[in-house]
Amino acid sequence: MKFTTSIFYTTVVTLKLSFIALLLSSSTSVQNLKPSPKIAPIEQKVDSVLSLMRLNEKIGQLVQYSGSWDATGPTSSQGDQHKLEKLKRGEVGSMLNVTSVASIRETQKIIMEHSRLKIPLIFAYDVIHGYKTIFPIPLGESASWDLDLMQKSAEIAARESAASGLQWTFAPMIDVSRDARWGRVMEGAGEDPFLNSKIGVARIKGFQGDDLSSKFTIAACAKHFAGYGFGEAGRDYNTVNIGIHELHNTILPPFKAAAEAGVATFMNAFNDIDGIPATGHKALQRDLLKGEWQWEGLMVSDWGSIGEMIAHGYAKDKRHAAEIALNAGSDMDMESYAYEAHLGALLEEQKITMNQLDDAVRRVLRLKFELGLFDDPYKYCDEEREKNEVYTPINLAFAREVAKKSIVLLKNDKKMLPLSKDLKSLAVIGPLANDKDSPLGNWRGKGTYNSAVSLLEGIKGMVGKNTKIYYEKGVALTVPSVELGTNQFLHPLKFNTTDASGIPAAVAAAKKAEVVVLAIGENAYQTGEGRSQVDIGFAGLQNELLEAVYKVNKNIVIVLMNGRPMDLSRVSQIAPSILECWHLGSESGNAIADVVFGDYNPSGKLPVSFPHHVGQEPLYYNQKNTGRPNSLNHVTFSGYRDAPKSALYPFGFGLSYTTFEYGEITLNKNVMTLNGEIIASVEVKNTGDVAGEEVVQLYVRDMVGSLVRPVKELKGFEKIHLKAGASTTVNFIISADLLQFYTANNKWEVEPGTFNVWIGGDSTTEPMKSFSVVE
Ligand code: BGC
Repeated sequence: MKFTTSIFYTTVVTLKLSFIALLLSSSTSVQNLKPSPKIAPIEQKVDSVLSLMRLNEKIGQLVQYSGSWDATGPTSSQGDQHKLEKLKRGEVGSMLNVTSVASIRETQKIIMEHSRLKIPLIFAYDVIHGYKTIFPIPLGESASWDLDLMQKSAEIAARESAASGLQWTFAPMIDVSRDARWGRVMEGAGEDPFLNSKIGVARIKGFQGDDLSSKFTIAACAKHFAGYGFGEAGRDYNTVNIGIHELHNTILPPFKAAAEAGVATFMNAFNDIDGIPATGHKALQRDLLKGEWQWEGLMVSDWGSIGEMIAHGYAKDKRHAAEIALNAGSDMDMESYAYEAHLGALLEEQKITMNQLDDAVRRVLRLKFELGLFDDPYKYCDEEREKNEVYTPINLAFAREVAKKSIVLLKNDKKMLPLSKDLKSLAVIGPLANDKDSPLGNWRGKGTYNSAVSLLEGIKGMVGKNTKIYYEKGVALTVPSVELGTNQFLHPLKFNTTDASGIPAAVAAAKKAEVVVLAIGENAYQTGEGRSQVDIGFAGLQNELLEAVYKVNKNIVIVLMNGRPMDLSRVSQIAPSILECWHLGSESGNAIADVVFGDYNPSGKLPVSFPHHVGQEPLYYNQKNTGRPNSLNHVTFSGYRDAPKSALYPFGFGLSYTTFEYGEITLNKNVMTLNGEIIASVEVKNTGDVAGEEVVQLYVRDMVGSLVRPVKELKGFEKIHLKAGASTTVNFIISADLLQFYTANNKWEVEPGTFNVWIGGDSTTEPMKSFSVVE
């Protein structure tokens, strides 16, 4: 969504007068006015509405309340009463967490029936990996490396949300995240800026389509601007200390891509960067995003993040916080109550300007026009659609498709997988084996508690009649009261560390079965916001269960369900097969069964590195080399004395039931000019005996730079499908813009010199070619 304001400025004076005249002659409501978009472009309408607004109404547009209250019922608390009064006066611009057509209609009605200008509210919700049909967590879905698939899942999430009255999601999260301890690693696309950019754009296109005013699309939100994924020590909300070049080269590229793709909104972040809270960061928001990048969308604060600048020690009180935030370019105040209380006085004191205020209000109004809310404030309120277009069999079928493509096969010794559907006996064991809730993941929107297909259900639906299934939970992962969970934010999980009474039965089941499928990992609420952990191993008594089962049956298929990279060091030593199944959403069990029994040949690749030990975190493939990268039989090199420095399972890694062989890389030339391009090609052959998909990955290294460059950087990928024995040539165009970086000159430039190129099935691929870039 890029807006050119020039047409508007040349014509506004005359048009605005007639527009206002028309507006005032019918009533003071802007609802009665429906000028054709062709005659009156959005900018003119925005400005005309703005010219009618009083100060309190302008400030009101910048206020966003959470409405986790029943707008249809009697208000129950002082807070609700306050919100209701503000709504009636038209002093609220947006609500979040009001869900369902009935509630949204009722809330919108308050504005329409009571407020002077009747400027519709925009309703927002965290639709992160599905609205009611739940898709894999974003990190899991990213393992598909399938952009069309992810675009489509966002599109379905948008359709379900829009059918339920919503118009805005706070997604995608495009924070590059490299620390497995951080709970929100589950919510993004992992450790690489290039992959985050591509996936972010695919999701934005899915949510927004190419027409925001369609009843089937909603506004997306690129978050969290910026640096939130780099909190020190993996602790949520923690301070971020990175240099300007790391900021530009690693953190900002997905946001730039999102802005260019026309994302309607951005959200800022809780963290400070080098001492400046992101919410009050003028250089980032006003100067870079809105200035240099010329992005004209709406910047919403994170929840309470304006007020939190007081705790940061950056603002002395809420008034000061409001002043800093508005000056910095935060347009909408989510739940800090700072703008509504203080912007008026700040204006009077000339601490903020009317231009700044108007600019923020314009951004809100523009979005409302774009969404078509001025034409019909109830346009997304359609009970029929809500009933018929949400959680449909078609959507669930697609969720299964996405889920199976998100699974990563990490290990498969002696081709243990796929299992035959005619096994005589199979033990399905583990705390997550029959869990119908954890697969829904942390940000499960309106997903119904306990509604996922469990692994056990998926397996039962897949095997033949003659296969005997022995199910045993073995150990509970969490203490039961928590599983029945009330408010997951108020009740952190408690793990079961004492009750091992189910282990003997699990051992007995394992003993009598040909194969054991062992489902272990994390509860849905072990990852997500506020869920940082110092330990990324298996909580509770899961290790004890694993060892006990392993003693009696070595034919173990580990099914991992988790939201972060885990420490798999022991598991990978003893289990012949490991499937990384994340939290896969509504169709989890069916999708896993598809892979376990070979109906689908796994094709996922890790979007994050899995370490040998938590002490390696943050661990990522695109690190810098250091001056002492290798051992040379000496201790003084950059590694650990007690663990490898490499990943146990690297970025880009994932096996298949078939094998792929890569030929030699060829380059169509060895030298390119600064505005030229080189084509790198490789032949890939399916050398196994079944068809399969492979994600062919292109990596580049800029050998010498004005700044130290990463050892490898992903610069392209393509997912191909090959029948057994078939081969194909994959070509990548390496153009100069792919080789640019934010150099020591503080500019995006390509620096002449030598570049190495790798093409392979993961980030550790070795054969390489070189070319040079010349001026
Ligand atoms: C999160 C955001 C989210 C917002 C609204 C915050 O705590 O950081 O990502 O969109 O809440 O729910």
